[in-house]
Amino acid sequence: MAETKPLLRALSGETLPTPPIWMMRQAGRYLPEYRETRAQAGDFLSLCYNSDLATEVTLQPIRRYGFDASILFADILLIPDALGADLWFVTGEGPRLSTITTESDFAKLKGADDIHDHLAPVYQTVRNLAEALPDEVALIGFAGAPWTVATYMIAGRGTPDQGPAHQLMAENVTLFEALIDRLTASTIEYLSMQIRAGAECVKLFDSWAGSLKGEAFLKYAQAPAKRIIEEIKDRHPGVPIIAFPREVGENYVGFANATGADCVALDNSVSPEWAAANVQVDGCVQGNLKSSHMVTGGQALIDETRHIVEAFKNGPHIFNLGHGITPDADPANVQLMIDTVRGA
Ligand code: CP3
Repeated sequence: MAETKPLLRALSGETLPTPPIWMMRQAGRYLPEYRETRAQAGDFLSLCYNSDLATEVTLQPIRRYGFDASILFADILLIPDALGADLWFVTGEGPRLSTITTESDFAKLKGADDIHDHLAPVYQTVRNLAEALPDEVALIGFAGAPWTVATYMIAGRGTPDQGPAHQLMAENVTLFEALIDRLTASTIEYLSMQIRAGAECVKLFDSWAGSLKGEAFLKYAQAPAKRIIEEIKDRHPGVPIIAFPREVGENYVGFANATGADCVALDNSVSPEWAAANVQVDGCVQGNLKSSHMVTGGQALIDETRHIVEAFKNGPHIFNLGHGITPDADPANVQLMIDTVRGA
């Protein structure tokens, strides 16, 4: 049967008169209804592992705005948690994990096939969503890319320059590569289970790919993405994959062909004209409005939204932000962006 959901049509390479639209972090703290449900759950991780409440927050932006896609509510750091890395979140600061810097730290991690009991609530959330979503809304599953997840596991927290991960790569490349390998295998199992539970598309977030240069980019961002995408395509033919190697600049060129991704998500450091000429030539692209427009709104938001739609109109395009929406965004600006894209 020919695909009818706009998001899946764009992912299969169709150029649509109006691009489908969704937003990274669309379920999040800028929405009062999210803040309310999160308070009910207790903390952020409890929300991720509570299938009923995670389903509810995933649906909130769909009800409010009618986006073309819904993204599973979870976090890229649930994989390290499932591997045994003791994840917790410090309010106002971010994630903390036990660090992986020695062979004995690594030896304590579980195997790639031993994560599913821990992640069962996430698979339940996907099943709930597959049931609850309106017919035209596509369900996106996701995982963090091995490098990005490794940067948090090695440092035990977020780091501005991913210094500890680069240091381990330099000082003990065998251990570093064993971790990347474990994460690659776990990510394949995790995404595969999300698809079996009903995800119609999956996205691989490599938020820190921009700090890998040259050979390191090829070995630790591109090669793991290729291995994950090949294996997922082998197990689940026809399920499209969006890759987001954030802030890689020139390395966006050819990334879809090198990895087999159906779509490359763009951050806002590249111009839409450049990306149309250099990246969209290989297939669908997603992006790339600056998140700060969701805070500031006004004519600048309208102008830049139109600019992006115009620049990508001759090829497959999914409208999105260049990164996640921030907690200080005004929900009314999200509606203004959607109305502008849809020409309302
Ligand atoms: O996009 C969505 O709506 C789906 C859910 C989703 C979340 N995180 C929920 C979340 C997705 C796809 C992510 C991905 C994620 N998580 C990434 C990659 C994308 C990116 O933003 O670069 C990364 C690096 C993480 C790790 C992470 N999670 C950090 C560093 C933080 C703390 C910083 C922050 O924004 O508070 C989180 C927390 C987090 N993940 C929140 C949400 C809605 C905020 C938690 C809260 O409610 O307090």
